[in-house]
Amino acid sequence: MKARRDKSPRPAALPVTAQLATLRAWIVFAEKVYAQAGLALGQVATTAHDEALYLLLRTLDWPLDSDPAVLDQPLAPAQRIALRKVLHQRVVDRTPAAYLTREAFLGDHAFYVDERVIIPRSYFLEIIPLLAAHLPAGVEVTRAVDVCTGSGCLAILLAHQFPRAKVDAIDLSPDALAVAAINVKGHRLGRRITLHGSDVFAQVPKVTYDLILSNPPYEPSAVCDDLPEEFKQEPRLALDGGADGLDIIRRLLVQARERLAPHGLVVLEVGALQKAMNREFKTLKLQWLPTIDGSHCICLIHADRLLRWKP
Ligand SMILES: C[S@@+](CC[C@H](N)C(=O)[O-])C[C@H]1O[C@@H](n2cnc3c(N)ncnc32)[C@H](O)[C@@H]1O
Repeated sequence: MKARRDKSPRPAALPVTAQLATLRAWIVFAEKVYAQAGLALGQVATTAHDEALYLLLRTLDWPLDSDPAVLDQPLAPAQRIALRKVLHQRVVDRTPAAYLTREAFLGDHAFYVDERVIIPRSYFLEIIPLLAAHLPAGVEVTRAVDVCTGSGCLAILLAHQFPRAKVDAIDLSPDALAVAAINVKGHRLGRRITLHGSDVFAQVPKVTYDLILSNPPYEPSAVCDDLPEEFKQEPRLALDGGADGLDIIRRLLVQARERLAPHGLVVLEVGALQKAMNREFKTLKLQWLPTIDGSHCICLIHADRLLRWKP
């Protein structure tokens, strides 16, 4: 989740589009208006071209892997009206593309999303497949928990990765849990994933987990105040980690000591808080896991360290 100050001008309307006869022309146009309006990217794609291509294909209800020849196919008047409407919502209203299409992807996994949840974009997509290598040989994950589950996306990735695991998914927000329930059902994981409405672990029955995973709210409050409009449309509860970003993380680590198996792991995604985390939790000697883009924003803590830790 990349935060930056919002300084972009807000256009009152889209320029005229009467001449735009093909999807190719609409994409060129979209890239131009994205740049002029200074739209923030990073929720759905990292370039204006990729996001616009996705949004416009979805609006036309054409497959995302359509033959490139469709780009030059003449569009019907109703299709052009639909494209103009969706671009107005994205550019003028600054609505995130995923809230317009009602879907988001982590790798090949699709999730239902709407304004009740943050749009999934977690680095855990690349880290979850590597977690088993950090457990002692022969240990199989049979109990896992996703604290701060939002849309349920990471609980679902955990259930796919560890097919014998029962997974608990916790969130304080009833709205987020309603969306998570849609996704758990959509992925046919109702028998293996249990949703809990809880403030961190407070309302969750005591169970011992092999794996405690969380992508909690970790942005310092002042950063949230300054986010671009698209990110402000996501629930503040999903982003705001208090004055220094560490509010939920502190509580989670203290409570995790009573719930982690002696061979278990805690893994936390913390955005730009590496330095603050290393300072605050010095004695835990956090292990930062490499990510492909070099952000290294996920840390791992083995149970032996956590269980000896004196906060
Ligand atoms: C950064 S979002 C992560 C959502 C999801 N795991 C993902 O990666 O897309 C953090 C989530 O934590 C939830 N949350 C905030 N405070 C919480 C608390 N005290 N206890 C449990 N969940 C909380 C929010 O409602 C939000 O859904």
